[in-house]
Amino acid sequence: MNGSATLQTLLPRGEPGCHFVAYGDCCIGPPEPGRGHEKHLAAVHQVIHRLDPRPQFACFLGDLIWGLTRDHGPNHDGQSLRQEWVEKLANEMKPLADLDVPVFRIPGNHDTMTPVSETVWREVFHEIPQNGPEGQEGLTWFDRRDDLLIIGISVYAMNMGSPFTMMGGRVDHGWVDQVLTEHSDARFKLVLGHSPVHPVNGYNAPKWGMLPEFGEPFWEVLVRHNVTAYLCSHVIAFDVQVHDGVPQITTGGAGTNSGPGGCMPAPTEYHHCVQLAIDDLGLRGQVIDTEGTVREQFNWPPLRDGVMEWSFKSEPLDPRPSRVLLAGHSGKEAFPRIHVSLDGYQPRLNVALFDPADIYPNSWHGPEVDIRHPFELTVAIDPAMGPGGVLARVGNEPFSSLETDVPHGYKANGWPETWTTSTEMLVENTSVQDVLR
Ligand SMILES: [Fe+2]
Repeated sequence: MNGSATLQTLLPRGEPGCHFVAYGDCCIGPPEPGRGHEKHLAAVHQVIHRLDPRPQFACFLGDLIWGLTRDHGPNHDGQSLRQEWVEKLANEMKPLADLDVPVFRIPGNHDTMTPVSETVWREVFHEIPQNGPEGQEGLTWFDRRDDLLIIGISVYAMNMGSPFTMMGGRVDHGWVDQVLTEHSDARFKLVLGHSPVHPVNGYNAPKWGMLPEFGEPFWEVLVRHNVTAYLCSHVIAFDVQVHDGVPQITTGGAGTNSGPGGCMPAPTEYHHCVQLAIDDLGLRGQVIDTEGTVREQFNWPPLRDGVMEWSFKSEPLDPRPSRVLLAGHSGKEAFPRIHVSLDGYQPRLNVALFDPADIYPNSWHGPEVDIRHPFELTVAIDPAMGPGGVLARVGNEPFSSLETDVPHGYKANGWPETWTTSTEMLVENTSVQDVLR
């Protein structure tokens, strides 16, 4: 591809709407030479500058500098940290300033990790609104611009008892609830925080996300206020998943070399930025790598075209260790490409997907289903959404992505050719194409 050719920006499908770019995690200036952070970041910036039209704003989701050196961290040397910010903003981050659009930014664990680094952040980014919860002014904030409300959260704020990343992300969900209540008339609501709330690619240790005791009430607030999306970083990957109807979009691809092969993991993951458009129909995104190639595109809600969906309606069932609801085979392949089952005496949904290029299927784990009463379950597979594209809902609840630890979704080349379905219940294909015939 021509390295200077323009890249088509996804635009809102009508008014009102907006379009923007989101990226994070470049950790400029790591102590070890040769990690390539600056080179990757420069390539990401080149891609952003090729977008046509230019994004209306940019969200930088934390971990801009390396920060965590002995001098800056345990020794609390504010002066050298201040100097690091000044140099990196003037050099490696100059292309972002040259974009000449509003930048919404939040601190990551490499940016603020001590009271001194919080003070330095506040000095460097003094233009950030000082409207956060008490003790988090200039770190956590909100910004209302016409139809759009953006809330930025410092998930490692010292006043939340966050001594360092290992202890997991934290959030004052009561404050978020209050801001969302006061701005309930905002048509689009974005919430930014450095750490994922829901684990990405199996990185489920506390240091890779938000502690559940903070994350669960926080997510309940985002769902109740019908937030457009939660945007985060920290895991060196792109990921989209949906919980109770609210998308979590992770973009930790701005340059940091970390994890197997430099990403979490490469080669499935790659350095990138995400360009997003939101409108009354929903959210669309494209994930663009450092060569300017669109590697992934996704929609929420999903477009019907290309998505498989089934509904399972059942009367009460007797307990059994396992029952298969649906299996889709192709040829003489060793495993069904799609296998939907209820497993356990208090069963949970399991979806196993098989790509004949692999040796074994991978599994997705879903909600508990109460089979003692009549139930209705819907399962959907959207290959465009990757691992988050295996979704289910019980009754009329909103859809949620199932849990998995693999970095990909349904990736077999084509849908199964033949199907078997449970005879215990009514199974209907509710996708546009009726392939169950
Ligand atoms: Fe991070």
